[in-house]
Amino acid sequence: MAKDKTAFVCNSCGYDSPKWIGRCPSCGEWNTFVEVRLGKGGDTKSQTFGKITDRNNGNGPILINNIKSEEEPRINLYDNELNRVLGGGLVTGSLTLLGGEPGIGKSTLILQTVLNLPNKKVLYVSGEESARQLKLRADRIKTGSTQHDSMLILCEVMIENIFESIKQVQPDIVVIDSIQTMATENVESSPGSISQIRECAAMLLKFAKESNIPVIMIGHINKEGSIAGPKILEHMVDTVLQFEGDQHYMYRIVRAIKNRFGSTAELGIYEMMSDGLRQVTNPSELLLSEGCTKNGDSNENFSGTAIACSIEGVRPLLIETQALVSTAAYGTPQRSATGFDLRRLNMLLAVLEKRVGFKIGQKDVYLNIAGGIKVTDPAIDLSVISAVLSSNVDTGIDRDVCMAGEVGLSGEIRPVSRILQRIAEAEKLGFSRIIIPTANLNGLDRSKFKIEIKGVRRVEEALRELFG
Ligand code: TYD
Ligand code: MG
Repeated sequence: MAKDKTAFVCNSCGYDSPKWIGRCPSCGEWNTFVEVRLGKGGDTKSQTFGKITDRNNGNGPILINNIKSEEEPRINLYDNELNRVLGGGLVTGSLTLLGGEPGIGKSTLILQTVLNLPNKKVLYVSGEESARQLKLRADRIKTGSTQHDSMLILCEVMIENIFESIKQVQPDIVVIDSIQTMATENVESSPGSISQIRECAAMLLKFAKESNIPVIMIGHINKEGSIAGPKILEHMVDTVLQFEGDQHYMYRIVRAIKNRFGSTAELGIYEMMSDGLRQVTNPSELLLSEGCTKNGDSNENFSGTAIACSIEGVRPLLIETQALVSTAAYGTPQRSATGFDLRRLNMLLAVLEKRVGFKIGQKDVYLNIAGGIKVTDPAIDLSVISAVLSSNVDTGIDRDVCMAGEVGLSGEIRPVSRILQRIAEAEKLGFSRIIIPTANLNGLDRSKFKIEIKGVRRVEEALRELFG
């Protein structure tokens, strides 16, 4: 009898090697190699679902000029946020991975989306919940129509059986919830192990490409924040979406971290309600706490908060930055940031200290971005500095002022992108003054706006503008 072939696979990144190694040459992790049996092989290859349409299999190289460039056919998901993040809808024949922490709402998002899809046959494969649980969840979610006569549920974990069902029902979209629960006969290790996940995903990829049916896989994220299972999963799929949010907040953000068919700058915002996820079309109003908008009482003194006009993806977003500065109780001052890069905060504090002359070296500084979201737009720098200073001198900033500007190492305020959009959003939300980099004033037609626009060159100027 032939001996089963085995290989060693890195648990952390999926690198494989014919012999055991102590340290993975690919990701550098120690002691991550496990032996996996490669199984009988051949089975995967023999199973076909049709001809791959978007590949040039077996025809040799062709001239790039001879390749037709046509738009990818896309399926409208009838969910503006998801459509936008995907780059205009779900591309047929694509494999999409939706990752997120357990309990964040991945199953809810996908179930709700497919329930709302008219005229599309969807096969929802669940390896985690029973059909009854799914029905209960579907009943709970408020959908546009009550007729779901093209939605099929399959509770199954063996990939081979799933493919059998797919052949029978011929769905337009396949959902796999979740890839970690799936298993194939080809691999003799338990579901959830690296080799199972890898093999199942490879089979699904092959299926999607050959049949032109899009597959959405749900995947869990482990403690470190990476999609549990090998990194190789991210390499294989066409699109990786991340569903994130703070368990304590109701907001959920879906963003593309890899997208072969669109930009990765987009994000979609939802609010988790008792009857499903609600699309948030005007995120700024959501992220500003009570009293920040025009209806608020502007006499209240909120020292330590400043409002930034930032851009996430292509949408402007008004974000509240909150800072708390206090005298360090113990020797080393504490610096902590939620939703903002700590190294960037330290840099901004150094600028405040060295260039503006505020002594905060011995103070604890805590920074928080309201709403539990993460911001990467550098234009938020100015509001971080202002919030820190406002807390340090215990003087509130007028509630009808917002700002945008990147801060450089010498204390200069650098120009930011998409200034018109930022100003328009601030005006729309009722702010009466916006502080922007002077460089952004070039060519700006101020007469178009009612909001007062103030240009500043340096941090000191901005602070004088705010605190007099
Ligand atoms: P779920 O989609 O099961 O998360 P995941 O698939 O990412 O593990 O979401 C579960 C949470 O969402 C659960 O704590 C209950 C909450 N929830 C609502 O608040 N409203 C709803 O309408 C639904 C269906 C769930
Ligand atoms: Mg789930």
